[in-house]
Formats: sequence, structure tokens, C-alpha cells
Amino acid sequence: MYHSPTLFLGLLLFLFSICSAAPIEAAAVKRSAVTPKLSGGGVVFGSGTYPRANRLSDGSILGVYTAFSSGNNIITTVRSTNGGASWQAWGTVDSGPSNANDIDNPYVLQLPSGRVLCAFRNHSKDPSTGAYTFFRITICYSDDMGKTWAYLSQPASDPGSVNGNWEPFLRYDTQYSTLQLYYSRENSAQDQDTLQRFSTDNGATWTSAQTISGAGITSRDGMTGVATISGSTVMAVFESETNGFFSIVSITSTDNGQTWGNRETIYTPISPNTSAGAPQIINVGGTLAVSFQTNEDMGPSAPSSSYPTSTTAKLITSGNGGATWGNKITVGPVTSVWPGLYDIDGTNFLMMFDNGGAKAQHITLS
Ligand SMILES: *[C@@H]1O[C@H](CO)[C@@H](O)[C@H](O)[C@H]1NC(C)=O
Ligand SMILES: *[C@@H]1O[C@H](CO)[C@@H](O)[C@H](O)[C@H]1NC(C)=O
Repeated sequence: MYHSPTLFLGLLLFLFSICSAAPIEAAAVKRSAVTPKLSGGGVVFGSGTYPRANRLSDGSILGVYTAFSSGNNIITTVRSTNGGASWQAWGTVDSGPSNANDIDNPYVLQLPSGRVLCAFRNHSKDPSTGAYTFFRITICYSDDMGKTWAYLSQPASDPGSVNGNWEPFLRYDTQYSTLQLYYSRENSAQDQDTLQRFSTDNGATWTSAQTISGAGITSRDGMTGVATISGSTVMAVFESETNGFFSIVSITSTDNGQTWGNRETIYTPISPNTSAGAPQIINVGGTLAVSFQTNEDMGPSAPSSSYPTSTTAKLITSGNGGATWGNKITVGPVTSVWPGLYDIDGTNFLMMFDNGGAKAQHITLS
């Protein structure tokens, strides 16, 4: 949304004239409900890992996670018709033998047309060595609200063993009627970038990739999540690893994701030599919420193996569009990994994570 600067300045002057006693920062604060509080306990989302969810046009929630059964990885959908209080088994997107076909990292999104897409990693492995022989980001579609699925496209692919493609995230940009795909691509074991592609035919074909984070620096940028802050201002968050430790980094776009910049570290673990990674971000009625996993509670002598084997899932919020972050709470106890987020109604939201199985925790902002 475009705001006239003159009109905006006029509004500011008006606000100051009617409430001149108010602290100056009040004009910049977008929202006061920034304090997250757990509501009830985590409910079972599914027997598996990497839970993600998005809204369906009928008001229900479509969830997705990776299940492991009978030697197979199975991308599984679940559905909730009561705001995430309970989840029902719903469908299967794709499956493959775990030792030869590493299928994981699903993300679901319904398009304005009603079609639902699921993007996921779909890698080939040598069953005898476990080495990756081919990397793919595959997209399947469903025309019945996520119940039955078929192949649509394969926007990213690279032969092994170096250039892995991981953790796809989908966003639909209504301003340009364009689908956006974000994912992480390795250049080497020490270097990974965030890449973005666009589709103007609902995911059937894709542009070549543009690098939106990590160009020119040696760091492992990965696990991207994206949220609209307001209007055409968008924030992407991802983990970045240098010297073996992860922190949470953001970049922003003011043109709805066409171009990116303003790289900033938004969360560093409280203990040296610990990590915070695997972030996701949502906008809950103007408050930004970022989830992540961390072993920071183990202190500076935490063994490096404790990330991510002894992590909690935590949450921070921002009431000023991502300028500052705080209000940290622990949502998932040790060991909780791969958290995801879903906005229910602008005040209530869900944080999903794997704590001995995928769970969904209801959280309220006040
Ligand atoms: C996933 O990759 C395998 C090859 O390892 C391929 O046979 C399969 O068709 C792919 N899945 C989809 C849905 O394209
Ligand atoms: C962190 O690890 C480095 C080596 O990786 C070590 O030199 C340093 O002392 C550690 N810091 C703390 C506070 O333990």
C-alpha cells in the first residue's frame, strides 16, 4: 500500500498535537500486543517431523509434515477444522524409500485459484553409502484441498554431491499475481545461499534463480521463512552459520520480494558457542513472531553435538516491524526441533515443532 509522505507527516503532527504527553516512540509502535503466552498444551499434529501449515479457503487449516513408516519417508497432510485444537489425517503428497529417496522439508500453500501446492526436497541417495547423488525441489498440486496429489514441476535440481537444494518456502504475491519460491542452495560444505524464483503460471514453470542472501560471503544461510510486514514491505528470516555456530538473520524487501537487502542479525544465542537456527516468521495482526530452535540454555560449555540434539523451540516478537525484537519465551521443551508458525486470527497463533512427534502449541498475544 502506498502512503503519501505529506499525508503521513500531517497525520503525525496531528497525533502529536492531540497527545503531546505520549512518549515519542508511541508514533513508531505499530502494535502493543507483543507479549506471547502459551494457551494449553501442545496437541498432536502428526507422527513425524518438520510441521508446517497454511489456511484453506474454507476456513480450515492444512498441515503437512514428514512421516517415517516401513522404511519410507512420507509427506503427509493433516487438517484442522477447529483452529488447530485437533488434527485429522488427510492425505499423502509423495513417498519414497528412506535409504534411496530423501523426501522431506514440505511446505503447503493454497493459490487464489483454489489449487493447493506442496513444495519439498526430493533427493536421491546411494543406498549403500548414503551419499546424495541428485538434489531436487519438487512441487506437487492438489485440486481437492490437499487430500490427493500429483506432480506439477521441479523448479530446482542439481547433481550430487555438492549443490544441495533445501527447505523450500512458497509465497503468493497478489500485487503482481506471482508465485515466489525461496530455498537454500549449497555452493560448498561451508557456503550456502538463499535463492528465489518466480512463477506467473501457478508453479508450472519458473524463472531462473536470483540469490537474495549470501552472495559474496562465506556462510551457511538456510531454512528461510517469509512474511509481509505491511503493504509491499516483506521480511525473510533464515539461519546463518559461520565458524560452526548459527544465528538468526533477516533481510527485507520494499517491493514485494522483487529485490532484497538490509541484512541484519536479529537473534544471537545468549551463551557463546551455542546456536540458534531453523527460523520461521509470521505477522500476527501487526506483531511479527519468529520461531527458532536453540541449545543456548546449555551454556558456553555445551557440546557441539547438542545442536540440534538438545534444543528447545523458542519464540521472539517485534511490535515495530522488525526494528527490535524481544519477549522471548520457550515454547517446546528439550528436544524440540524444526518449528513452524501459523496465524489464526491476528491475536492467536500456532507454533508447531517436533518434540517426540509433530505438535501444535496455541499461543496468544497480549
Ligand atoms: C522424487 O524423486 C524420485 C527420484 O528419486 C522420482 O522418481 C519421483 O518421481 C519424485 N517425486 C515426484 C513427485 O516427482
Ligand atoms: C568457544 O569455543 C572456542 C573454540 O571453538 C574456544 O576457544 C572458546 O574458549 C569457547 N568460548 C567459551 C566461552 O567457552
